[in-house]
Amino acid sequence: MKKILLTGCLGQIGSELVPHLRNIYGNDNVIATDIRRIENSSVIEGGPFEVLDVLDGKSMAEIVKKHNCDSIIHLAALLSAVAEAKPALAWEINMGGLFNALEVARENKCAFFTPSSIGAFGPSTPKIKTPQDTIQRPATMYGVTKVSGELLCDYYYKKFGVDTRGVRFPGLISYVAEPGGGTTDYAVDIYYKALQEGKYNCYIKEGTYMDMMYMEDALNAIVNLMEADPSKLIHRNSFNITAMSFEPSQIAAEIKKHIKNFEITYDVDPIRQGIADSWPDSIDDTCAKEEWGFKTKYDLSSMTEDMLLKLKTKLNIR
Ligand code: SER
Repeated sequence: MKKILLTGCLGQIGSELVPHLRNIYGNDNVIATDIRRIENSSVIEGGPFEVLDVLDGKSMAEIVKKHNCDSIIHLAALLSAVAEAKPALAWEINMGGLFNALEVARENKCAFFTPSSIGAFGPSTPKIKTPQDTIQRPATMYGVTKVSGELLCDYYYKKFGVDTRGVRFPGLISYVAEPGGGTTDYAVDIYYKALQEGKYNCYIKEGTYMDMMYMEDALNAIVNLMEADPSKLIHRNSFNITAMSFEPSQIAAEIKKHIKNFEITYDVDPIRQGIADSWPDSIDDTCAKEEWGFKTKYDLSSMTEDMLLKLKTKLNIR
């Protein structure tokens, strides 16, 4: 990657991936885009930024040509809970945006990355140590768009030779931008509420395991996969990756080590619980480790320590 266009840059991943890439590849070589502009954003102020609606393929192509991009990282998408509430819009944005981005990559010979998700699995998928290649019959619109996206990326590689690569992200935990409308978001909210209120009312039931990862590990995974030797890649779209698997009472217990009086209560949201129940408890990331050396730095304990420290500063809490 030398000159990179990113979509959806003001979202949870983009807000940190853009500065991370600018550090590695140089400010002017990372072209950030989003459907909106916001005040006081390092993404907008730290280098080239353009307003782009991913449903406008013509403008996307113009930006890629104008900046002479050789790589596209397509992040714009609706997350699982919002997609369940607005399935037609989710299909339009998740599939329409991806199709446009792949077409622009094909026409301009760009390498291509887009995230898939643990949401690409469904109730008939093996739940424990879910293999790389397995049954994918998701029961959510989000999952339907993610599996379709994986297939579409495979198709563009095989049919047109577009260098498509991707990972199935677990729930991503970060302190810069909050996720919006996902099922795994509880594992971010809980840290904010722990510091602000000393308690958290969780919408996911105790005992519900899902895979998770700290953002720093996710950013490194994207760069490492995109820079990996293509001759080593047996899979492309999309690699299972994970850093940890836990359920709500385990993250609560970890927070309690730092905030003694912290308490978790439960008020289960049937929609998001249903989504979580249809996803794996833990996924097997052996292929990612073997094919491009995927590794992580953070587990639940080191992530919790860092999250609380960083959020204290962000929220100005002593
Ligand atoms: N974190 C996402 C969600 O919960 C899953 O990819 O929707």
